[in-house]
Amino acid sequence: MIAPPGGAVRTRGLPSVVAMDRTANIVPPVLGWAERQRRDLPWRRTRDPWLVLVSEVMLQQTQVARVIPRYERFVEAFPTPASCAAVPQAEIVRLWAGLGYDRRARSLHRCAVVVGERHGGRVPDDLDALLDLPGVGPYTARAVLAFAYERDVGVLDTNVGRVLARLGGRSLDRRRAQALADRLVPRGHGWAWNQAMLDLGATVCVKRSPACASCPVVDACAWRGEGEDPARGSAGTSGRQSRFEGSDRQGRARLLHRLRAEPLRADAAAEAAGWGGDAERAERAVAGLVADGLVVEVDGILRLA
Ligand code: ADE
Repeated sequence: MIAPPGGAVRTRGLPSVVAMDRTANIVPPVLGWAERQRRDLPWRRTRDPWLVLVSEVMLQQTQVARVIPRYERFVEAFPTPASCAAVPQAEIVRLWAGLGYDRRARSLHRCAVVVGERHGGRVPDDLDALLDLPGVGPYTARAVLAFAYERDVGVLDTNVGRVLARLGGRSLDRRRAQALADRLVPRGHGWAWNQAMLDLGATVCVKRSPACASCPVVDACAWRGEGEDPARGSAGTSGRQSRFEGSDRQGRARLLHRLRAEPLRADAAAEAAGWGGDAERAERAVAGLVADGLVVEVDGILRLA
């Protein structure tokens, strides 16, 4: 189904999906399509690894349109890891408001600190070193390599995993999907290729109602929108964060939301978190917020730090 760049097909040890068809080369149509359609996004105008890291962490949890203004505000306030590391974590979390899960903001702040301590203030350009950074997983590490350092690695997120599974006509586990994503990168075009694949997955090969008629590689696609979707159960498609509704994260978010408006009596925390009868759970949540430097408790009154 999908031949690697240049058309040569090596089959030994490769995901069998690649070996199924020896004709199609999806690289020229995908890159050509991207040339015409590429979204002009602020993080695509930079190769600064810190700014790319910031954008990718934001994009993990929030849609592009919502990220743009927050990214711009963030990079103006914290244009370098050192400027981010120099402020308390709570300040980063505050600026994160509206982006969701503030765990990512806390990880990003720790990243900035570690980059200063271990990497001379520069986000590293090595996969293992990136993976060692707080909160940086295989997706983010490869995104930094491809989008900041223009390396030829495959960036695999949910959207790209879906495109690959549909093209090949079969579900792919994470390892196979990553191997295929890496192999497909045309040499010397890691940046453009990965941005193109992200755009294809985000705008054409979408989860529900894909726009196959506008797809540049519909002719090479095994699925073409007909029959059982091979992307169901494929890499990344089911790896969502656990339910927010009813979770500790939800209670924590409610507490922070309330505290942004006004201080709160500690004994009213359970109510504010939406856990009316569960004071113990609320106490644990408050203790966590205090330990994270987001909230202070003085004389039974909670305030934002
Ligand atoms: N989602 C994740 N990374 C992205 C990027 N670089 N551009 C657009 N959407 C993305």
